[in-house]
Amino acid sequence: MIAAVCPEYGPPEVVRIEERPSQPVVHGQAKVRVSAAAVNYPDVLLVANQYQISVPPPFVVGSEFAGVITEVVGEAGDLVVGDRVIGTQMFGAFAEEVVVAATALNRIPPGVDDRTAAAFGVAYRTAYHALRSVARIDSGDAVVVLGAGGGVGLAAVQLATALGAHVTAVASSAEKLDAATSYGAKHVVNHRMGDLRAALREFLPDGADAVIDPVGGGLSEPALRSLRRGGRFVTVGYASGVIPAIPLNLVLVKGVHVLGFQFHDVAPDEFARNEAELGEMLATGRAAPHIGAVYPLAETARALRHVADGDAVGKVLIDVSSPE
Ligand SMILES: NC(=O)c1ccc[n+]([C@@H]2O[C@H](COP(=O)([O-])OP(=O)(O)OC[C@H]3O[C@@H](n4cnc5c(N)ncnc54)[C@H](OP(=O)(O)O)[C@@H]3O)[C@@H](O)[C@H]2O)c1
Repeated sequence: MIAAVCPEYGPPEVVRIEERPSQPVVHGQAKVRVSAAAVNYPDVLLVANQYQISVPPPFVVGSEFAGVITEVVGEAGDLVVGDRVIGTQMFGAFAEEVVVAATALNRIPPGVDDRTAAAFGVAYRTAYHALRSVARIDSGDAVVVLGAGGGVGLAAVQLATALGAHVTAVASSAEKLDAATSYGAKHVVNHRMGDLRAALREFLPDGADAVIDPVGGGLSEPALRSLRRGGRFVTVGYASGVIPAIPLNLVLVKGVHVLGFQFHDVAPDEFARNEAELGEMLATGRAAPHIGAVYPLAETARALRHVADGDAVGKVLIDVSSPE
């Protein structure tokens, strides 16, 4: 099978296309013929050896995929050969086939195409669990979304809007902000055009109820300052490459809550509820990812570079069914 391999740690350009042996399937696993895969920021970090966990090279890059089950060994719940599925794992997705624990797979709802399914998973699940179970968004809330043109950010714009919130989207280009507007944002701020704190004060004179922050760096503090008393700041990631240091007196004086999002911190009953609601939104088309760029498998390094540079609008996909 053809796969995009990280032969040594480094920038996206180290990734090469290689012929690799097909992996055997053991008990509890399934083999999936991949059709589409989504690039996530951690894929870039894993190749650079800057992620929380190191994977020793060589390894096949890619953490999120959609395709068809071609083989199952042992127990696989209600999944069978021929099912269209999505799945995630730390690495291995940018390849013609992937072998995973059957429990890592979910059936794609009828009527949803593979690209949409691949682009939906990590970004929408992150955004929704963070909005619903950490920021605890209610109808009418004012929500500021940083990185609002990126994968998680644009999903957060759409899903917060679906929850009845009024979204102020913050991003670095007109293209990203246009996408945020089309996904429901009421106000948009290009943080490269001036003072973020002043712009947020103008749109939200009474303060925001919540901030969703997948970016970090210099945007976090002015966004946190835009919160009203009792507001919630949710730190989701640090795509800027800078983990911000927030003066703690701000938290005390303003009376705000600073919270982190990780999947495993969501209570099991809320997790199940959120997943069911998301599944329904995907199946009915109420939530659909914006696919900003698609690369063939042979151009995986370019796809990773696109995301590494912060240029992605919505999701960047790899079309694995067209390797050239
Ligand atoms: N906690 C979790 O479980 C979880 C789950 C998924 C993702 N994450 C994290 O969330 C973050 C965002 O993920 P994503 O998929 O939304 O990424 P993305 O699509 O690449 O978007 C990230 C945004 O960050 C901003 N940015 C600023 N400087 C950047 C730089 N040097 N390189 C790249 N982006 C830069 C850009 O917004 P501007 O327009 O403002 O420049 C960009 O649109 C990542 O750090 C990821 O690891 C966390």
